[in-house]
Amino acid sequence: MGKSIPEKGASWETVRHELESLGKGDADWRSARTAVYVFNAGEDVLRVAKDAYALYQSENALGPLAFPSLKRMEDDVVAMGLSLLHGPEGACGNMTSGGTESILMAVKTCRDQARAQGRDTTDGEILAPLSAHPAFDKAAHYLGLRVVRVPVARDMRADVPAMADAIGPRTLMLVGSAPCFPYGVIDPIEALGDVARQRDVWLHVDACVGGYFAPFARMNGVDVPPFDFEVPAVRSMSADLHKYGYAAKGASTVLHRSEEQREHQIFEFGDWPGGHMTTPTLAGTRPGGAIAGAWAVMHYLGVEGYCEKARQVTDAREKLSEGFAELGLHALGDPQLGLIAYRSDDLDMRAVYGQLFRKGWFTGFTTDPASIHLMLSPAHLQVVDSYLEDLRAAITHVRETGATGDGVVTRYA
Ligand SMILES: Cc1ncc(COP(=O)(O)O)c(C=O)c1O
Repeated sequence: MGKSIPEKGASWETVRHELESLGKGDADWRSARTAVYVFNAGEDVLRVAKDAYALYQSENALGPLAFPSLKRMEDDVVAMGLSLLHGPEGACGNMTSGGTESILMAVKTCRDQARAQGRDTTDGEILAPLSAHPAFDKAAHYLGLRVVRVPVARDMRADVPAMADAIGPRTLMLVGSAPCFPYGVIDPIEALGDVARQRDVWLHVDACVGGYFAPFARMNGVDVPPFDFEVPAVRSMSADLHKYGYAAKGASTVLHRSEEQREHQIFEFGDWPGGHMTTPTLAGTRPGGAIAGAWAVMHYLGVEGYCEKARQVTDAREKLSEGFAELGLHALGDPQLGLIAYRSDDLDMRAVYGQLFRKGWFTGFTTDPASIHLMLSPAHLQVVDSYLEDLRAAITHVRETGATGDGVVTRYA
């Protein structure tokens, strides 16, 4: 038998203590030894997100009439996102619970617009680079479509000619990532845009990771290529606030080039006794806290704050890259933002990962080719030296003992 609700309640003090001890075995992200799942921009930012979340934790954005505050905050967040990402006049969007929901909504919108235009979308295809996030496969699975994955080019970015060749009569959407998760590189969105325009296919840019990072990195002088609505063929984008927007979890944006397009995202239903229901996204109840948290952090940091956080992240990545080179390791492709996957030509990287894991470093692992994957936060700048020190020791151990990575678990989820 599993657990049942306790007969009598306990004091908050007791419950809180239990919650804290439940977390004892978790990845230690507070001391910046975790480079996946958590984005740590410092105690002050965490506090703003937490307090703002708590202020609106009971409010529900399902009811804009009851909570015009949340409607206003969502509109503001979307407008701020669009202003960063070159949204043209008439561009619009919504907040969602995360990258997966934003992608699901973009794919649904694309499919339903195609249907409205008289296309048969049975077995419709999403054409994506091998490096695109599995959220596209999830969306396809839910929506009766399929994903066709195309191997990436030698530089780990989308292979545009190969993607152009793969377009067929069932292709509904082309995908590019800015950046992709496994390698952290930005796909050639302009070139994908040329193909999308010539072949009249919807282009979605998955900027879940880079949407609220790349624009600030560019302001700091990083040579970020055009990747957003600046590219005319880009029809929709996903950009997460709970990643490099440093908002509380449960906050992303799905953005559209036009309102005419977004109409295909909306679900309406009135044929039941509960009253007419209109929902723009997958969710029914929409947590007010997630919206308020994002709104608050964006106002707290401002452009200056985000630029400073982006600088800390890219500084950390550059310092790490120098350290990797000294240890005979190299990055996959040419990552410009906060993600980096690095490897060696002769070491068992899974074994190295295993050694680092033992020292308390919890990071990702890219399987093809086998590489250690870091999704860096501003807080990592302070631990670059100790990471490199532990990495050096891990490499020495693996070389001296011939330890292998057999049995080392590196699953992403
Ligand atoms: C490039 C990319 N797209 C989409 C997602 C999915 O986002 P979420 O986990 O918020 O659903 C992720 C998550 O890491 C990602 O890296």
